[in-house]
Amino acid sequence: MNLWFATLLEAALIIFLIFMLVYAVYSLFATISFAPYVHSGKKKILTMLDLANVEEGMTILDLGSGNGDLCILAATRGANAVGLEINPLLVWLSNFKSKRKDLTDKATFVRADLWHYRFPDMTQVVFVYGMPEKMRPLWTKLKNELRPGTRIISHAFSFPEVSPEKEVGNVRMYRL
Ligand SMILES: C[S@@+](CC[C@H](N)C(=O)[O-])C[C@H]1O[C@@H](n2cnc3c(N)ncnc32)[C@H](O)[C@@H]1O
Repeated sequence: MNLWFATLLEAALIIFLIFMLVYAVYSLFATISFAPYVHSGKKKILTMLDLANVEEGMTILDLGSGNGDLCILAATRGANAVGLEINPLLVWLSNFKSKRKDLTDKATFVRADLWHYRFPDMTQVVFVYGMPEKMRPLWTKLKNELRPGTRIISHAFSFPEVSPEKEVGNVRMYRL
């Protein structure tokens, strides 16, 4: 192996390790802050959108938007979808997918920590797939910032001491 090839290989390895380290730190932070990245799966996302009755012109917010699939599918139904996501790689990927599908005017992704982001007042439906211990503080934040009547769709975990209005499997719909 000649010297320049060995140097190139070493540089590639260092870049890969830095990338993995940054990813690990972000994943750890996301896990502690709200939830690690776990995809809901297309079937479950469709259940969530159906339960919320997502349609043309509706304004929706996905808290922890992951790879962007929920917002992109909502945008294909005509909704104005915003995804908040802490991981910059997932934000980049989501914006890339939105651009490729020509949906940039309907599905946008913001790199933000949801705990330090003021939820837009005009939001009609919020989607959540977060860790169980974060549900109580999240309910308080949603109540403080959004209008009464706003629908909250939660995958997998319930809000303590709040009764869902509808339920399909482990997807629940609440109303503020
Ligand atoms: C369980 S995944 C849900 C992904 C997507 N909504 C879905 O249902 O497929 C939770 C997402 O929340 C993100 N996340 C974790 N903490 C966050 C925070 N403080 N602010 C914004 N996003 C956060 C994670 O990076 C992850 O992508």
